[in-house]
Amino acid sequence: MSLTPAFLDELRARTSLSALVGKTVKLTRAGREMKGCCPFHNEKTPSFYVNDDKGFYHCFGCSAHGDAIRWMTDHQGLPFIDAVKELAAAAGLDMPEQDARAAQRAERAKSLHDVMQAAADFFTQQLGGIEGAAARALLERRGVSAATTQAFGFGYSPDSRGRLRAALKDFGDAMLVEAGLLIQVEGKEPYDRFRGRLMIPIRDPRGRVIAFGGRIIGEGEPKYLNSPDTPLFDKGRTLYNLERAAPAARKADRLFVVEGYMDAIALAQGGVGEVVAPLGTALTEHQLERLWRVVDVPILCLDGDGAGQKAAIRAAHRALPMLAPGRSLAFVTLPDGEDPDDLMRAKGKPAFEALVREAEPLVDRLWKHELAAEPLTTPEQRAGLKRRLSDLAGSIADPAVKSEYQAEFRHRFDEQFARTRQPFQQRQPFYPIGQRRSEQRGPGQKWTPPLPPVTEDARRLRAAGGIDPILSKAVVAGLLRHPAEIARHMEVLGSLKLADGALGRVFEAVVDVALADTRAAPLDSGRLVTILAQSGFDTIAHDLLRADAMPYSFTRADADAKQAREDLDEAIAILVTRPEVDAALAEATSAMMERFTDEAFQRQVALVNEQRALDQRLANLVQANEDARALGLEDD
Ligand code: UTP
Ligand code: MN
Repeated sequence: MSLTPAFLDELRARTSLSALVGKTVKLTRAGREMKGCCPFHNEKTPSFYVNDDKGFYHCFGCSAHGDAIRWMTDHQGLPFIDAVKELAAAAGLDMPEQDARAAQRAERAKSLHDVMQAAADFFTQQLGGIEGAAARALLERRGVSAATTQAFGFGYSPDSRGRLRAALKDFGDAMLVEAGLLIQVEGKEPYDRFRGRLMIPIRDPRGRVIAFGGRIIGEGEPKYLNSPDTPLFDKGRTLYNLERAAPAARKADRLFVVEGYMDAIALAQGGVGEVVAPLGTALTEHQLERLWRVVDVPILCLDGDGAGQKAAIRAAHRALPMLAPGRSLAFVTLPDGEDPDDLMRAKGKPAFEALVREAEPLVDRLWKHELAAEPLTTPEQRAGLKRRLSDLAGSIADPAVKSEYQAEFRHRFDEQFARTRQPFQQRQPFYPIGQRRSEQRGPGQKWTPPLPPVTEDARRLRAAGGIDPILSKAVVAGLLRHPAEIARHMEVLGSLKLADGALGRVFEAVVDVALADTRAAPLDSGRLVTILAQSGFDTIAHDLLRADAMPYSFTRADADAKQAREDLDEAIAILVTRPEVDAALAEATSAMMERFTDEAFQRQVALVNEQRALDQRLANLVQANEDARALGLEDD
């Protein structure tokens, strides 16, 4: 069916908006307009205006705005096409291009609706009768008040195979079968589907009965029996109690989803009317769409047990591709083994509201689930987590929401592993000046373990101009002890900007002295220190040369000369390379925060590995020195 703009205009023109709105909102005249208290939010002084000339309503309080069709979809909760149909019927307009089959279907649906209403009436009547005693007792035992019983239309189906069939015989068996009220087995008499059950009518958004749920009175299987899918009832597209919950939800600006009808009814009776339930199945996409038509962030209230939590994550995954800016889910977890019905009966609304205050956003739920899904002690496992998070974010269709999730997951991942990588760092220690592996860190001595922490360490190093201050100090000490090596490294040393302060100055002085030295004899440590002393660097120079100040062969007086030279080469290489890797990593990380791609991710992983390799090389220098000492090799 196609609805032309001309038809819709005609429809709007023929509809009196104030009369339509006036059915549910008390309106008073205010100049050329009508005003009243806004039905979309809670207010005591009217800021909701209806303009019949222009055909729209507007709320100055909450910005609700629309025309007659919008009113039917947003306030009454009807699908667009039903909104149009209803307005057209009221305005006496024929729906365009409605073919014969559709008309027939509509006619049939009308009589199916009549059948369902007649059945609902029959069940209600039975609940009040002699046979309804057990069902009434069940309601009483469960604390369902008379008002609730009436409001929700509870009924009772007698324990017989033919009572409903007889009561509704005027409709004919075929129609009763089509309505799902009778069961027809080939070649046999049709019989009543619902027997000896407490009946709960299920309604469409317009309040028409489209199906039933029947709870067994005593013990037995199944506990709940639902109508089959019929031309009126599609389980996957229906939400129990939506017809009442939608207007309540717009007022309260929240909407709960619970597992069962009895939960929804208990909450409503306890003063939380904005609640719906799916019908014994996991939430479908259609149901999610319906929920989002009412509020931006429906709140799922699920049991704390395994099944409830599984249902929560299933709903979360299903929602991801459908997210949009502002549109999400939240999760309330009930105490293990308790459903909202139990909770309301035992502790009442305050207990429920207390749980609601703890509602978790979707992103938290997903994050926690993935974090708990697998152990995360090896790099491969952590990469696996990263991959799973990236896949989750990747399943979001909306680009803006997707990139927010990518950034959020990245951030959480980094935070998480900046902390939990501690044990790994301890296996690859990096010794600060004056500290041996066997020693405890002194109280005033601050140092940060060198392993990746993409964020923290990179930031710290960038703050220090990308140069590792501890290694810098060791290298300056090494150059002081082995000045002959300076010439070999002149090129890199000349362009290296070391830390600020005394160390930086002494480094520059060392390089300058070596450059300026024109003597034939190689520059030795004693002569270098003497020259430095003339510029006031004697204290710091002696300090740097103190034996055992640092854990490297090149800072020790008694080390093997060849070993010391090789180690110094290696230390200088690390000192020069590290800031380059850090800078590249910082760049890759921020690129990935911008836009998560596999390529960016691979690049980041590669750079983290390079960083680790450098740290490992540094740790090896320390280790080599320790080993050499332990074995007495330096005495060769
Ligand atoms: P529960 O077994 O948790 O039931 O099923 P409940 O709502 O707490 O029911 P009471 O309190 O024992 O009466 C949750 C929902 O799953 C569906 C129903 O919608 C039920 O409300 N269900 C359950 C069925 O459709 N069939 C069943 O046999 C059981
Ligand atoms: Mn229950």
